[in-house]
Amino acid sequence: REGRRIDRLGRPLRDLRISVTDRCNFRCRYCMPKEKFPKGHEFLGMTELLTFEEIVRLAKVFVRHGVEKLRLTGGEPLLRKGIENLIAQLSELRTYDGKPLDIAMTTNGSVLGKKAEALRAAGLTRVTVSLDAIDEAIFQGFNDVGFPASRVLASIEAAQAAGIQVKVNTVVKRGVNEGEILPILEHFRGTGVIPRFIEYMDVGTANGWRMTDVVPAVEIIAKVNERWPVEPLDANYPGETARRWRFKDGGGEFGCIASVTQAFCRECSRARLSMEGRLFLCLFATEGFDLRTMLRGGATDEEIDEALGRIWTAREDHYSELRSMGLAPDRPKVEMNYIGG
Ligand code: GTP
Ligand code: 5AD
Ligand code: SF4
Ligand code: SF4
Repeated sequence: REGRRIDRLGRPLRDLRISVTDRCNFRCRYCMPKEKFPKGHEFLGMTELLTFEEIVRLAKVFVRHGVEKLRLTGGEPLLRKGIENLIAQLSELRTYDGKPLDIAMTTNGSVLGKKAEALRAAGLTRVTVSLDAIDEAIFQGFNDVGFPASRVLASIEAAQAAGIQVKVNTVVKRGVNEGEILPILEHFRGTGVIPRFIEYMDVGTANGWRMTDVVPAVEIIAKVNERWPVEPLDANYPGETARRWRFKDGGGEFGCIASVTQAFCRECSRARLSMEGRLFLCLFATEGFDLRTMLRGGATDEEIDEALGRIWTAREDHYSELRSMGLAPDRPKVEMNYIGG
């Protein structure tokens, strides 16, 4: 019983995002503002987190259901001790049709420099580094712990030197970092690093999102095109989050993730597993399905497999589309640091 099942909107399961910790050493205002995550905040204890063994066991079941892409997130995934051992185990898995999995990580880049070699050796081939500004004052304003942008940039170089492909994620917030778009592109043009500008979203409840905070992707692209003419590129895979653009002068490419103004739910094949083993079918979900209780209650792989099939075939989430139509349900949403974006 291998292979893909589709959900109620005809979407297969291809992509599993695994959050490995709820901790982070940054306090980005839109994700873990200090008021809600002060010093002494109680994070989850070790016994609440899925062990690497449990994660690998679940990943195998997901792969049988057609998952071909894994992304490790957090919190900050590099704060999870021994993360390279998890990557080494995950890189041994093969898709249901025998291909290596695409394994990536989303990180804030603070300790990536130190770990790049070990991560590459474990089998990590790509990372996405969150970097909302390269101007020191603006960047430190974002992370709110005074972490220098220069150290993140050094980490990016170390990752590239170790042979890891790097993307950069920049969440654009009106009136805060629009002015960083061109400097970020200027910095990375010609380096092989792919910057992606993300429309600020109403994830979770901690960030006080307003529509007026959003800078629409069309505006971003027009601004870039004025400085360096660009043309569209085809998507790398069906349902890719980013629309890709290339510089006509050969300076490389960048992307825009327009989840607010151009929702991409129609092809969303992503599932999200929290560090506690709850499975969320949408970034904006209220509740997850508790797989940890099954795991720890002695369920067999077949039973978990069957549960996953039932959960996925019943899925009908499409929050961003509903929001575009002014129909976003008014209910609590899972927090960003819990679900990893
Ligand atoms: P690639 O595999 O490199 O294409 O990465 P990705 O774009 O799938 O993942 P990444 O973690 O870099 O996500 C980039 C941004 O898109 C983040 O802000 C995510 O929160 C957002 N994002 C990713 N997946 C979804 C999704 O399914 N829905 C919405 N609304 N946003 C998403
Ligand atoms: N809107 C859009 N992207 C966000 N991220 C965090 N919060 C938001 C938000 N409110 C991004 C992070 C990271 C990715 C996983 O999600 O910057 O790059
Ligand atoms: Fe940490 Fe990323 Fe959240 Fe910032 S956005 S607080 S770096 S998990
Ligand atoms: Fe997928 Fe939900 Fe994002 Fe739509 S809003 S693309 S369904 S995660």
